[in-house]
Amino acid sequence: MRCPKCLLCLSALLTLLGLKVYIEWASEPRLTKGYPGARSTPPGPTPASLEPTLPANLSARLGQTGPLPSAYWNQQQRRLGTLPIGNSTEAGGCQAWGTAAATEIPDFASYPEDLRRFLLSAACRSFPQWLPAGGGGQVASCSATDVPYLLLAIKSEPGRFAERQAVRETWGHPAPGTRLLFLLGSPVGRGGPDLGSLVAWESRRYSDLLLWDFFDVPFNQTLKDLLLLAWLGHHCPDVAFVLHAQDDAFVHVPALLAHLRGLPPTRARALYLGEVFTQAKPLRKPGGPFYVPGSFFEGDYPAYASGGGYVIAGRLAPWLLQAAARVAPFPFDDVYTGLCFRALGLVPRAHPGFHTAWPADRTTDPCALHDLLLARPLSPQDSIRLWKRLQAPRSQC
Ligand SMILES: *[C@@H]1O[C@H](CO)[C@@H](O)[C@H](O)[C@H]1NC(C)=O
Ligand SMILES: *[C@@H]1O[C@H](CO)[C@@H](O)[C@H](O)[C@H]1NC(C)=O
Ligand SMILES: *[C@@H]1O[C@H](CO)[C@@H](O)[C@H](O)[C@H]1NC(C)=O
Repeated sequence: MRCPKCLLCLSALLTLLGLKVYIEWASEPRLTKGYPGARSTPPGPTPASLEPTLPANLSARLGQTGPLPSAYWNQQQRRLGTLPIGNSTEAGGCQAWGTAAATEIPDFASYPEDLRRFLLSAACRSFPQWLPAGGGGQVASCSATDVPYLLLAIKSEPGRFAERQAVRETWGHPAPGTRLLFLLGSPVGRGGPDLGSLVAWESRRYSDLLLWDFFDVPFNQTLKDLLLLAWLGHHCPDVAFVLHAQDDAFVHVPALLAHLRGLPPTRARALYLGEVFTQAKPLRKPGGPFYVPGSFFEGDYPAYASGGGYVIAGRLAPWLLQAAARVAPFPFDDVYTGLCFRALGLVPRAHPGFHTAWPADRTTDPCALHDLLLARPLSPQDSIRLWKRLQAPRSQC
């Protein structure tokens, strides 16, 4: 993909595709990523600290300097943020944390059911891997000779077979320097159906499914981040970069690799790159999407990269795990990642090539999308169409 015409053509195609996705998007309630009210930052020089640190007192880092609000998260965070390093939310048993939350939050009974469930189990973060009965399906460790430069870590759900297959057949296909893994919860969902035998087959066939034994629901997505970080520590500690994305994303892997390889080393070491939202605030409409009650959380969200797709430096994995032990549980995975980075004193960097609520941000000039790195949401069919166009030798803008 070196010819300008191919890129121009891709841009035109993307715009058309965007229109289609937009029409579908506009006619459906939006339940995935992007908290309304969040603003996308124009990319530009961001004052960035370049090395992670984790001070004994996190209050200043997390903006807890004024009078402390009575909201539960804020209270818990003040307590956790000043514990000696090495302590964690699991002190006293993870179930106990949830039980305490239920009794100490005055209007807990009026919280939406998924938020109540989240809080009851939020401090429980150790789950065993789910392995198919009868063996097989083990995901191989990175071997000394085959450490990926970029790990593609894709959040999927057990039933989304078509989305995973589309990624395998298109941008996630084996390429030098990359490795593809899907992150899933248990295929035995709450209330069924039991997808265990289908997922077991898929796992043996492709050996690219990392599954853990927890319910795969939206408020459990942070578990995938944390369990992946722990897996990396044991099985792939030297990976240079990790792309976190959803299974409905389309990633222009060669362009992303080229961008990463061109980064100054100091910036690459602390990388947290994506579509960055700043000044996002919790939504307070009960029953609405992303509702956060005032008795749970007060304040603004940290700057964070949209969970639809972002890249982190692999060397930050152990740092993020340490930070997560000191940052109180929060239901949205991407906001939580933003909080952990903030605790480490690192800031996200915006790149205009990430379009995680695409085509809301699409340009009116179809030929201006030449720096696309990631777009979502795309259906499996749209991903395959786009992939084929990218393979075509040349076309017109
Ligand atoms: C932690 O820092 C905050 C703000 O800088 C301060 O108000 C608080 O007293 C400190 N807590 C401890 C235990 O040192
Ligand atoms: C963690 O904190 C709890 C309660 O503050 C304390 O009882 C426990 O000993 C601490 N654990 C470690 C490993 O410091
Ligand atoms: C997350 O998974 C755990 C373990 O399966 C479960 O107890 C918890 O209820 C789940 N969380 C939500 C929000 O459903």
